[in-house]
Parts: sequence; structure tokens; C-alpha cells
Amino acid sequence: MADSNGLLREMQSEMRILGIETSCDETGVAIFDSEKGLLADALYSQVAMHAEYGGVVPELASRDHVRKIIPLIQEVMDKSGLGFPDISGIAYTAGPGLAGALMVGAAFGRSLGFALDVPTIGVHHMEGHLMAPMLESDPPVYPYVALLVSGGHTLLVKVKAFGHYEIMGESVDDAVGEAFDKTAKILGLGYPGGAALSKLADKGDSKRFHFPRPMIDRPGLDFSFSGLKTFAANTVSSHEQDDQTKADIARAFQDAIVDTLMIKCKRALVATGYKSLVVAGGVGANLALRASLQTLDAKVYFPRQAFCTDNGAMIAYVGCMRLMTGKQDQDLAIKVYPRWSLEDL
Ligand code: KG4
Ligand code: ZN
Repeated sequence: MADSNGLLREMQSEMRILGIETSCDETGVAIFDSEKGLLADALYSQVAMHAEYGGVVPELASRDHVRKIIPLIQEVMDKSGLGFPDISGIAYTAGPGLAGALMVGAAFGRSLGFALDVPTIGVHHMEGHLMAPMLESDPPVYPYVALLVSGGHTLLVKVKAFGHYEIMGESVDDAVGEAFDKTAKILGLGYPGGAALSKLADKGDSKRFHFPRPMIDRPGLDFSFSGLKTFAANTVSSHEQDDQTKADIARAFQDAIVDTLMIKCKRALVATGYKSLVVAGGVGANLALRASLQTLDAKVYFPRQAFCTDNGAMIAYVGCMRLMTGKQDQDLAIKVYPRWSLEDL
């Protein structure tokens, strides 16, 4: 009896959560400890495989998650020095994302939880991105405004507290990362080209071309980025295709994106009166955006570069927070939500 009571006490005071992320083209696994923080994380990116097709191929993504999930779990167990009996819960990304890819993490997470007799929980991928800065040594304090900029989403979120999110603005068409990737493709930079475009932009002349700043002359916090990609395509086709011209176009495109995001972040901070801004999602790795946002009249928080893009650590963190409040999967059905709003949490 003493043992089971002891175990119960230990679970209440300290939880070690295995997090699994498989929503798109990265298999991410991590172990988060409620007392000690992140114990280990491991990631496998499928980017090279999808690059050949110019975008993510869902069926290939699912199959690759199946191949990588067990070796990655083994890797974090080895890195952390823990054994399966030390794991007190399992969190997996339940959505939004590719249905088949999500099913791999969900089926695996739930089955392992069942086998180990520990609670499991499905986590919202974007909540993971929102909370990624909490893994850093100087985490933000609630409330704050969050700018979520990834390949699939562009959101300005009012974060009142953990689990209390209000979407203030979002893209009406392409996500920022998508606009980066499509423009990179137009410039012949391969897929996903966001980082490569940004590198090229460093060599560009900011005065040669001027791209529009979409939707800044009307009130509100929504975004539109598909016009910028068209503007880039038209600029490319009406000019010589030398390296400098490509760099100048990349620079003008990036400047327009950064400026637009800056203007909307400033508006969101004024509207809420909040003094902190969290930037997350893959485009949060963009150095020009980081430098520009640092000039805002707010304390700006970024996750480390590796946790801007998809990873298991952010899922383990959110899962830990939710499991600690007693939330967990209830029946045996394995559920994923390819489309799922943050506001439905
Ligand atoms: O968050 P993420 O890993 O995946 C999604 O959930 O979408 O974000 C990936 C996106 C891609 O569109 C990629 O091109 C973009 O983030 N990205 C960048 C940079 N690094 C990654 N975009 C601009 N500049 C970068 N340095
Ligand atoms: Zn993501």
C-alpha cells in the first residue's frame, strides 16, 4: 500500500511527460519534467524527402512518421536516462494537421499510454507553438499577445492565461510561411524556401523594389499575403534573372512581410494594453523579423530557433500542463482533429 500511495504522491508532485509531434513533416519527441523542465528532445525532419515533390506529400509523411517514431522515443529515453516506468503521462498532437500523420502519433501515444497504464492527452499543435517560449530560461508572464507565424497559420492571439485564447486577427488567404515558400519557389530556391529566401534577402538592396503592405490601410488585425506572392511573380517576369535582381526581389518581399507584421503587432499591443509579445512558429526563426520586433515598445519573447519550428518539446510541455490539472483522454477511441480552432479549446 505504501508503494501505491508513494507513487500517487510522486505523480502529483512531479510529472514526466513524453511528448509526440507528428502533425506534418517533422517527427518530434521529447520528455518534459514538471520540476526539472525539458529532459531530452529529438527530431527527425522529412524535409529532404518532400523537397523532391516541391511540397509535403501526406501519405509519404505518415509512412515516415511510422518509421521514425520508435527510434526517436528510444533516443529520448537514452538521453534522459529514464525507463518507461518513469513516464507519468503521454501527450501527442491531436490537430490541426494532416489526418494520416496525426493518426500515427495519436495511435502510438494512446497505445503506449494504455500499455504503461498512464494517462494520455491530445494537444493542439498551435497551443504548442504558443507555449514554446515557456521552455526558455526567461519565460513570458501572462497576459501577452502572441504572433503565430508558421507554414500553415498566421495568427495574432490574445493570451489571457494558459488555455484562454482569443484570436484577434488571422490571414484571409496564404499563411506567412506559405507566402515565403511560394515566393522562394518563384525565385528557384527549392522547398521549403523560407530560410533560403531570407538568406538571399540579406544580399538584396532594399531600395530597388517596393512591394505593397497588404491590408494596413483598413482597421483590424487580419492579414492577406497571397497578393505579395503574385507581386513577386510579376516582378520576376518583368526583369532580368540575374542573382542581384533575385536578391533585391527577396529583400523587397521580406521587407513587406516584416513591416506588415510589425504594424499589426503594434496595433494588437495597443488594443490589449499588454506589454509582452510572444513570437512563435517557423517564420519566427526569421532574423529580420526578430530584429524588427525587438524595436517595439514591449518585451518580446522568442523560443530558441529549434523550437520555433515543429518539435516534441512544446507538445510535452502543453500536455504536462493539462495533465497536471487533471485533464486526460477518457475513452479508448483514438481521435484526431485535422481542422481545429484554438478558440475551441
Ligand atoms: O512551424 P513550422 O515548422 O511548420 C508549420 O507548422 O507550418 O513552420 C514552417 C515554415 C515554412 O513555411 C518555412 O519556410 C518557414 O516556416 N521558415 C522561415 C524561416 N525558417 C522557417 N520563413 C522565413 N524565414 C526563415 N528564416
Ligand atoms: Zn507548426
